[in-house]
Parts: sequence; C-alpha cells; structure tokens
Amino acid sequence: MPAEAHGHSITALRKEARSCTACDLYKDATQTVFGEGPPGAHLILIGEQPGDKEDIEGAPFVGPAGALLDRALDEAGIDRNDVYVTNAVKHFKFIRKGKRRIHQKPNAEQMKACRPWLDAEIAVVKPKVIVCMGATAAQQLLGRTFRLTQHRGEFFAGPNAATLTATIHPSAILRAPDDESRHREMKQFVKDLKLAGRKVTTLRKSG
Ligand code: URA
Repeated sequence: MPAEAHGHSITALRKEARSCTACDLYKDATQTVFGEGPPGAHLILIGEQPGDKEDIEGAPFVGPAGALLDRALDEAGIDRNDVYVTNAVKHFKFIRKGKRRIHQKPNAEQMKACRPWLDAEIAVVKPKVIVCMGATAAQQLLGRTFRLTQHRGEFFAGPNAATLTATIHPSAILRAPDDESRHREMKQFVKDLKLAGRKVTTLRKSG
C-alpha cells in the first residue's frame, strides 16, 4: 500500500508497487505495471489493466491498444510524452487457453485493492484533467453505477481537484465488428481526447 502520497515521487511509488500483494493478481502476473509519464503532466489517461504485452514489458499501453491510443492522441494533437498513462488495476488478470493468455475483467475486490495506487498517482501528478478509458476506469473513479453509454464525454469533478471525463477504451475500438463502426468509434474517441486536451488548455489559462 502506498503510505502517504505526499512527499512521494512516481519513481518511489512505482518501486513500492512492485511488491504489492493487496489482491491475488500478483501471483500469476509477471510484474506490476505502474503508470508512466511526466510527473507534472496536466492530463492523465486511465485504462483498465495491463494486457499481455504490457505484463511482459512492464509498461502501460505498449501493445495493440497502445498503438491505437498513440494514433488517436496524434490525431487529437496531443503528445503522448506530455501525458501520464496508467491503469485502474496494475496487474494483468487472465486465464490460459492453450498458449494464449486471455484477458479477464478485474472484480470489485481487485479494483478496490488497487485503488490506493491510482489515488497516489493522481495526488502526485496533480493533473488538470483525468480521462477514464472504458467502464472499469470510469467506475473506479465515479462509482459502480456510472454508465459510460449515458455519460461519455461529460465533465465531472474528480479527485484532487481534477476535472474528470470518460470515453471508450481503445480495445473496444479494436474489437469493433466492421471497418465502418471501427472508423466511427475512432473518430469519436479522437473527438473526446481533443475535448479533454482543450479542457486542459482552458483550466491552465484560468489558473
Ligand atoms: N489495456 C489497458 O487497459 N491497459 C493497458 O495498459 C493495455 C491494454
């Protein structure tokens, strides 16, 4: 557990999180995948949990969903190097099917156990805007009754005086059934990211 976010750096939190056993997910995962990005980032993007590649490489959004995210950020005019990227849950949850490791959604207990790390990241980075990508991240910060379909793109008061919004998860775009819907979802995702970027600019101007 992170002791107190105050006075901690992201480097110190990442180191501490390496030995986290707050839920059972550490047992099968390769490693804790902590957030990455500049400590003073104005924008935090939050996904669900590391995937197969992230689990192996130890960094968030470096697999197929990450490639899509990079493309969307680029289209939205946001430099990923300026953004802090993390996940609601820091260990990969999966079941084995032959040689493949199939992603499993984290349960309420696992999300609760991981929440202090996310809170500590937000407290240290102090972003102006937080974007939750997908229902898991949104429900982690906005409660289990939050419905992405109803409130996507709206702005809420978030933790640590940040403004919070929620959009689709990049993996959902990858899973779109055909090119047309994939294209449509990507366009909307880019639009949501652009709006978040603009919100950062507005909030920075107003101090
Ligand atoms: N999906 C996520 O939610 N996070 C990652 O880091 C990779 C895929």
